Amino acid sequence: MIFPQIKINLKKIKENAKRILDLCQQSGIESVFLVTKVLAGDKRIINEIAGLGFTHLADSRIENLKIYSDLNLPKVLLRLPMISEIEAVIKYANLSLNSEIEVIRLLNAEAKKQNKIHEIILMFDLGDLREGIFYQDEYLKTVAEILNLSNLRLTGIGTNLTCYGGIIPTKENLSELIKIKKEIETRFQIELSLISGGNSSSLHLLPNLPPGINNLRIGEALFLGRETAYGKNLPGMHPDCFELVAELIEVKTKPSYPLGIMGMDSFGNVPKIEDRGLMKRGILAIGKQDVALEDLMPLDENVEILGGSSDHLLVQLNGNFLPGDKLRFAVNYPGLLRLMTSKYVKKEYWNKS
Ligand SMILES: Cc1ncc(COP(=O)(O)O)c(C=O)c1O
Repeated sequence: MIFPQIKINLKKIKENAKRILDLCQQSGIESVFLVTKVLAGDKRIINEIAGLGFTHLADSRIENLKIYSDLNLPKVLLRLPMISEIEAVIKYANLSLNSEIEVIRLLNAEAKKQNKIHEIILMFDLGDLREGIFYQDEYLKTVAEILNLSNLRLTGIGTNLTCYGGIIPTKENLSELIKIKKEIETRFQIELSLISGGNSSSLHLLPNLPPGINNLRIGEALFLGRETAYGKNLPGMHPDCFELVAELIEVKTKPSYPLGIMGMDSFGNVPKIEDRGLMKRGILAIGKQDVALEDLMPLDENVEILGGSSDHLLVQLNGNFLPGDKLRFAVNYPGLLRLMTSKYVKKEYWNKS
């Protein structure tokens, strides 16, 4: 076996996916986008869950959507398109989230060139201050122009919260999206098919999302079993679908405080280290190139993370440990994202409870 490895429990992921879909369905959410970005293009996992009832596959990187080309669900580009990637967006995504009319015009021109109809969701910023037209700004002119573009379809509107500003979705702020929907529909005599009310941070409102919201884009809740407004585990879901296993390459008793004149560590920071006297120290063969160490939680209570460098994770060990021993860690979402992206971390799939 190759280490470090990320153990991926396909059965638990599948159970989480079914539960999320049930929860959404019971609350009148007709469409759930499966947000795959944490998988960094891992088709093995997507193959297990894509067919369970998600309406779209959504990712922020066009490279990943390209990998999913043969999968039979519409593909959504979640991050606003770069002008430099317009050709690929039209080629590999059926739908993209947008906020810039310049980009939308270019998407239309490219769609015409490729003889396609590209769908867009127009994004509104309700206060989190990441992407979207600010909800208090004028938007009807933009909508009017989009509706006149020959090769684009305005499939809906959406918002994204709890990403930059940490703003929690509430009935009040999501109702602003519904106001916008009503204004667009009345003004232009159209019906918007998707009103996309956010990500895993909107789940805490279920089953009481403002009526009219009929789509959510879900990543973290599906893979880590928790909503992200308050970070609470969702009932009946597995928080432990993924686990990191890394191997000890040194175990020695040494002082806890470095000896000599202290300058910077390998990342340019001045170390802050507590003197705890002699301790048993272990080094694991994984480092900051693969994961931010604060995103790991040891699953053995006799292991405590001390720090590390690009290729090394240093731990305090209590008890008997030897070089070659494998230590297990739980990971949070940013940790999982980096581990799945690192080509140095092997993926190990299993299918048991
Ligand atoms: C625009 C957008 N929608 C949805 C998501 C999914 O968020 P979450 O993983 O919290 O469900 C993300 C982030 O991955 C995103 O950037």
